[in-house]
Amino acid sequence: MTAPHEINAARELIARTGETLYNRQLAHGSAGNLSIRLDDGTLLLTPTNSSLGYLDPARLSHLASDGRLLDGDPPSKEAFFHLAVYDERPTAQAVVHLHSTHCVAVSCLCHETTDDVLPPLTAYHVMRVGRLPLVPYFRPGDQALAGAVRKVAKDHHAMLLANHGPIVAGKSLRDAAWTYEELEETAKLFFLLGDRKTSPLDAAQIAEINRAFPS
Ligand code: 13P
Repeated sequence: MTAPHEINAARELIARTGETLYNRQLAHGSAGNLSIRLDDGTLLLTPTNSSLGYLDPARLSHLASDGRLLDGDPPSKEAFFHLAVYDERPTAQAVVHLHSTHCVAVSCLCHETTDDVLPPLTAYHVMRVGRLPLVPYFRPGDQALAGAVRKVAKDHHAMLLANHGPIVAGKSLRDAAWTYEELEETAKLFFLLGDRKTSPLDAAQIAEINRAFPS
């Protein structure tokens, strides 16, 4: 069992992070969901149809590791993909899923290959995000999405759901949120640069970054 003060701290952190992401316009309306995996393997997750800007820490959904609701409001309809990511990534302690504008725009483009859908424009993108595979489209809440997410989550902590938005896992909620923010900035740069000739980092530069900053 996680100590009550630790659960309360995690509740507050989710609410504060949600509010920050909302105020920075990375989340809008009732889109997006956040979760933390507690030390005992249970999950705190944002409730379905809640605004990340106005979360009540006491009403967050507390789930068993098999997805059963232990207490709180009914969980996000995407609880299953949070569970799939945690299953595949034992070191992940938090998951952020948002519908931020520039990332969603990338998710709506036709991509010739789906193994990495944003160029390595900056060192911070390489350090924090790495490769960004595209997961095929499923409607929000479709349980079939779990299998598709699971397959990709094995090797990637960040992925992009087609016509939907990214899922990012991290060692902490702060880590996952910072990675998400970096991803949104890269997507913004990608559109800002448009058709101009760009010079993404090459394989040697990427390898050097990965050696200097192993994840
Ligand atoms: P929930 O309100 O059920 O969390 O769904 C929001 C969302 O972002 C769906 O992708």
